[in-house]
Amino acid sequence: MTKEKILVTSALPYANGNIHLGHLSGAYLPADIYVRYKRLKGDDIIYICGSDEHGVPITITADKEKVTPKEIIDRYHNANKNAFEKFGMSFDIYSRTSLPVHHKTSQEFFKSFYDQGLLVEKKSMQFYDEKAKMFLPDRYVEGTCPKCGNEEARSDECEKCGSLYDPSELKNPKSKITGQTPVLKETSHWFFPLGKYQQRLEKYVNEMNEKYGWKDNVLQYCKSWFIDGLKDRAVTRDLDWGVKVPLDGVQNKVLYVWFEAVLGYISATKELFQMRGEPDLWKSYWQQANTKYIAFIGKDNVVFHTIIFPAMLMAWNDNNKDKYILPQNVPANEFLNFEGKKFSKSRGWGIDVDEFLNLFPADTLRYTLAANLPENKDTDFYWKEFQGRTNGELADILGNFVNRTFTFVHKHFDGVVPERGKLEKIDIEMLELLNASPQKIADLLERYKVKDAVFEMMNLARAGNKYFNDSEPWVSLKKNKEQCATTINICLNIIFTLAEIFEPVIPFSSVKIFKMLNARPTEWLKCGAATLSSGHKLNQAEILFAKIEDKVIEDLVTKLGQTEDKPKEVPEEITIDEFKRVKLQVAKITAAENVKKSDKLLKLQIDLGSEKRQLVAGIAKSYSPDELVGKKVLVVANLKAAKLFGIESQGMILALDTSEDGKVKIIEIDESIEPGKTAK
Ligand code: 2FM
Ligand code: ZN
Repeated sequence: MTKEKILVTSALPYANGNIHLGHLSGAYLPADIYVRYKRLKGDDIIYICGSDEHGVPITITADKEKVTPKEIIDRYHNANKNAFEKFGMSFDIYSRTSLPVHHKTSQEFFKSFYDQGLLVEKKSMQFYDEKAKMFLPDRYVEGTCPKCGNEEARSDECEKCGSLYDPSELKNPKSKITGQTPVLKETSHWFFPLGKYQQRLEKYVNEMNEKYGWKDNVLQYCKSWFIDGLKDRAVTRDLDWGVKVPLDGVQNKVLYVWFEAVLGYISATKELFQMRGEPDLWKSYWQQANTKYIAFIGKDNVVFHTIIFPAMLMAWNDNNKDKYILPQNVPANEFLNFEGKKFSKSRGWGIDVDEFLNLFPADTLRYTLAANLPENKDTDFYWKEFQGRTNGELADILGNFVNRTFTFVHKHFDGVVPERGKLEKIDIEMLELLNASPQKIADLLERYKVKDAVFEMMNLARAGNKYFNDSEPWVSLKKNKEQCATTINICLNIIFTLAEIFEPVIPFSSVKIFKMLNARPTEWLKCGAATLSSGHKLNQAEILFAKIEDKVIEDLVTKLGQTEDKPKEVPEEITIDEFKRVKLQVAKITAAENVKKSDKLLKLQIDLGSEKRQLVAGIAKSYSPDELVGKKVLVVANLKAAKLFGIESQGMILALDTSEDGKVKIIEIDESIEPGKTAK
């Protein structure tokens, strides 16, 4: 079988925050599973990732914390790199876009476009924050829409009424960075003429889809961009944090972060081979027509990888000798939510990868996420499901099968693989299934159907358990030792296959199983039935998966969202006419006494000016009868009479719920106001 040359990238996460489980499910775990599978298959593959270290949000975080942007990117680059490592991501390199090699690479692209006269310079008026001393990107300006009055409109666009306008028309603009009123200032930027590439891009997407089957969700995103029509896009920004615009006399301008971030994949590959001492080898991945390039991303990155990046590579290829390959497939995933809601650090909703991995082994998380990837629609992570998959699948199915086989072979065959004897129907069927399994899983992974592949992996472990049960080696041990040996030989080969096909998903456990087997992985498609020969000495078994107690999960669920602000109660609206139907009057309390057998109620006599009434109020825990006599209060005078503890109540006193312990405070009315006065 011919070996493929493959380049795989995962989106470069911003070094401005910690990665969470949603990121892992979107662009990282599926890619890692694919890459690990391809490595076992024996393909020539490299896997590239790193931190995206430019962009406005990083400068804003730095300003807020009164540190330099460098401090922010160093902090998050290292944190994310470590978290990925703990999670078992097998990048060949985790680079960063602040490196000189990246600045140089992206400047070369810009210069090439500039020199061929492709970039269009345009002047425009943009908001400038004099306090922050910076031009404000659209999302950092807020004001009142000139068309509909929406007070949360952006500088040139209102999301509420959909109108587009000139920034000078926005009313009452405010900088979201300093809260100051920004001024309009002229600036100029270079634009990449994306529209020129529309036809070629449509052809490219169609061709790739026909040949390699792109995912529906990705095609839909592309289609909607094509229908809207591709427009010129600014590729520079007025900032000083980023890759400098490489033109003489241009200051305080950098390349737009997305323009250079996608090129980060190329720079990272250059760095990788620089480190490996073969500085030109990166070209054989990026510039060799038979290399297949797969870009793994989350759905919010689709346009950049299927339209903008390919257009940039086309533009480069049109004018340079070295030609880049374009992504062959962009298997973008949808989003993962957490227990029914979006991840939110400020609301305490979700969990950092690092924190998670301090509590549970990486493989349990990898397996749970992989079994529930948002491949076609958004999915959710639930703590309960995590526990269920760990206990019910990893421990009870896979772990149990490995454990019972090892216990048996050590007890009855001295820890040596026994020889296979005559095969019965049950053995032949099991071996057929075992032989077919690696190919079946490979076919799914080749089509990025990771979730289905994971299901098939666990199915083989299920089949292994069933085969063990149905073969009853504890019975044949006494009656027919040859048959017993056959069963155990086959079970051990199933375990070998499981260790191999599960490697992409649970690599740490796979290493453990291979150690127990005293063996090393073979080539993916060869791992089926006959890999462990008789006489092979095995090592001692170890426990693969510990079960998770209910209490541990319950505590995590309880902790969830504890920092979350309680949602504000929105009272039901009533009309002014409805309100007017309530008659609120001032009353003076003339007598008060406890209601027998009730510790909550007081019986009150009140004076409403023109009439006297009796009412029963639930305020005994807050006031003694004596305290109340003589006070003027507000009552609902037209409330239908009711009986409480057999005593008629003709109205209701208004009181405020002021404390946590159920006590209330009556609304007292000033001495000078006469009973009977109505409130409006
Ligand atoms: O969405 C993000 O986190 C971006 N930093 C992804 C960039 S992908 C590529 F362009 F580098
Ligand atoms: Zn509007």
